[in-house]
Amino acid sequence: MLNIGIILGSTRPGRNGEAVARWVTDIAKKRNDAHYELVDLADFNLPLLDEPIPASMGQYSKPHTIAWSQKINSFDGFVFVTPEYNHATSGALKNAVDYLFHEWKDKAAGFVGYGGSGGARAIENLRLIAGELHMADVRAQVGLSLMTDFENFSVFKPAAHHEASVNTMLDQVIAWSGALKALR
Ligand SMILES: Cc1cc2nc3c(=O)[nH]c(=O)nc-3n(C[C@H](O)[C@H](O)[C@H](O)COP(=O)(O)O)c2cc1C
Repeated sequence: MLNIGIILGSTRPGRNGEAVARWVTDIAKKRNDAHYELVDLADFNLPLLDEPIPASMGQYSKPHTIAWSQKINSFDGFVFVTPEYNHATSGALKNAVDYLFHEWKDKAAGFVGYGGSGGARAIENLRLIAGELHMADVRAQVGLSLMTDFENFSVFKPAAHHEASVNTMLDQVIAWSGALKALR
C-alpha cells in the first residue's frame, strides 16, 4: 500500500490552511488506493534552517530535523496544501522543504493552493522547487479562491466541483508514486 503525506503548509495562527488540508484528507480517505496522512508543519516546530551541512549530504545534527526526516521518509508521494504569500508559497513550507533532500527525491507531488488567484503562483513556485528536489510534479492541481470558496475570506465552503479536481490530482499522484517505486 502506498503512503501519501498531505502536507499542511501554513503555520499562521488563524490559518485557512487547516480547513483546506482536512477537507483534502477527508476526500482522500474515501479512496482505497493508499494510506493518506495529514502532516501539519506546526507539529514539527522547525526553526529557520539550522543544520550546518546541506540536506543532500543526509547528515543531520538536530532532533527536530531527524523527526521531520523520519516522517517525510515514510511517504511514497505528497500533496502540498499551500497558501499564497506574496506570489510564492509560505516561508514555513519552503523552510521545511529545505531541511531535507533524499526524503523528497523520486516521489510524486500534487498541489492544492488557495488565495486570491487560487494559489496558482504558490503552486508554480513549488513546481520549480520540486524540480530541484527530483520530485515528479503532476499536472492536475486544485485552486481554491478566497473569494468564492470561503465566506468572508475565512470560512471554508468549497464549491462542489473541486472534489472531482482533488480526485484527479490524487489519481496522478498515486500513479506516479507507484511507478517511481522502481527508482527508490
Ligand atoms: C503575508 C501574506 C501575503 C499574502 N500574499 C498573497 C498573494 O500574493 N496572493 C494572494 O492571492 N493572496 C495572498 N495572501 C492571502 C492569503 O493567500 C490568504 O490570507 C490565505 O488564507 C493564507 O493562508 P493561511 O490562512 O493558511 O495562512 C497573503 C496573505 C499573507 C498573510
